[in-house]
Amino acid sequence: MKEQIIIFDTTLRDGEQSPGASMNTKEKIQIATQLEKLGVDVIEAGFAAASKGDFEAINQIAKVVKNSTVCSLARALENDIIQAGEAIKPAPKQRIHTFIATSPIHMEYKLKMTTSQVIKKAVEAVTLAKSFVDDVEFSCEDAGRSDIGFLKEISDAVIEAGAKTINLPDTVGIKMPSEVGQMVQKVYDHIGRRAIISVHNHNDLGLAVANSLAAVQNGARQIECTINGLGERAGNAALEEIIMALKVREDYFNDLYTNINTKEIYPSSRMIATITGIEPQPNKAIVGKNAFAHESGIHQDGILKNKKTYEIFSPEEIGLDLKDTLVLGKHSGRAAFKDKLEKLGFTLSSDELESAFEKFKELADKKKDVYDDDLRALVTSNMTSVDKAYEIISLQLMDATGGVPSAAITIKMPDNSEVTDAAIGDGTIDAIFKTIDRITGHSGALMDYKVKSISKGKDALASVTVQVNFNTDEPAVIGHGLSVDTMLASARAYLGALNSYNSMKGMLKKRDNKGV
Ligand code: KIV
Ligand code: ZN
Repeated sequence: MKEQIIIFDTTLRDGEQSPGASMNTKEKIQIATQLEKLGVDVIEAGFAAASKGDFEAINQIAKVVKNSTVCSLARALENDIIQAGEAIKPAPKQRIHTFIATSPIHMEYKLKMTTSQVIKKAVEAVTLAKSFVDDVEFSCEDAGRSDIGFLKEISDAVIEAGAKTINLPDTVGIKMPSEVGQMVQKVYDHIGRRAIISVHNHNDLGLAVANSLAAVQNGARQIECTINGLGERAGNAALEEIIMALKVREDYFNDLYTNINTKEIYPSSRMIATITGIEPQPNKAIVGKNAFAHESGIHQDGILKNKKTYEIFSPEEIGLDLKDTLVLGKHSGRAAFKDKLEKLGFTLSSDELESAFEKFKELADKKKDVYDDDLRALVTSNMTSVDKAYEIISLQLMDATGGVPSAAITIKMPDNSEVTDAAIGDGTIDAIFKTIDRITGHSGALMDYKVKSISKGKDALASVTVQVNFNTDEPAVIGHGLSVDTMLASARAYLGALNSYNSMKGMLKKRDNKGV
């Protein structure tokens, strides 16, 4: 009998803890919808008690996701669990994931609690969570550095209280694969089938995927992971690497299966990279830009004779169609546009399709060939923009070289009026951002600015990602801007950040100790 490995995706929770990866509610809904299409069993949609924004996003996701279980993280605290239970209520399948640290260092210094106090808190948390949902997961935070006897003891207690999954995270990413394997095996020998054993490995030593696979070989039946390996510090185990290892080496991982549709891996990876602005490194396994690039003559010769000489799986298996990247031009019609978007994994309502088609036509007027990546960027930015927003009407730049750089900008305000103003700056970008500040009455501190070209050609679409802090008590927000003109893309990115900030006003995580 084949056994299922449950795929628990935490891109929207641990992944969002990657520096610079915070997302707005619309973006999170878009990602959750794609994760469901990908076939993940559990979507950890956020940490409901962390902020109003997190609560709202989880609640909205719970309303749209039907097939995957929607989960919220909660510390072993009454209010956290109540918030989590309320946030996931609309979902047909709901889970609360509660946790407390179990390692000596965390219990002594962070929690200042004894082992019996920790067990008591854990049992109270699971009992309260059970009053909201049947499906409760308990995590022993820092299990990797915890005493194995204590892991068994606390597992017994929380299983007795109703926990169905016991998660053993290597929170600090310090373990070797054989050590994770032994830990899982010992806990598995003790609890048997009374609960599912899960792992959650961080990648501080680059071993998160190897550790997750070692856990599976020793009895773990749930893996927590993220798309593109996003996550706190060096990230979490990358979903795409785990899935393709299990698939390509089916002979090695005997009789195990997942519900993942591998053809949705590449679209998911691109969507998350586009939304967060965090690109996987070019040589990243499975989804990196070079993952299928055969550079040396010997390799190219082999590939031409038989792909299997150097390719262990085909790009098509992960939904990457290398032959079909040149797409549309200005004479392409709606039907071809819709067909192409469907192939890329986007399902749009007729209004969304119409608006994306208009943007595509504008782009095709300026750019001869529109590629898959252009379309992904265009559709994602269109779908994730917020309502009632500021919008650039026109941008004029003067004296970029020699004189004093200045910008004159007209912006459509949220009340539909148009305001024009101008400012000088230390450089052109500075002048643009200062003008936007003058018009909108905000004053943003630019924390990060990145520009990259989407696809190729001198007329390539520029994608600008900015991270801007509009309030020192709150985290910075991300904005993306697209245009064949880099300066216009920069202005759009800055306004995008401001629009995101306004749409989340009062809902962002405050700078307190509520983060995980
Ligand atoms: O890394 C960790 O231990 C976590 C837990 C909250 C599961 O993210
Ligand atoms: Zn984690």
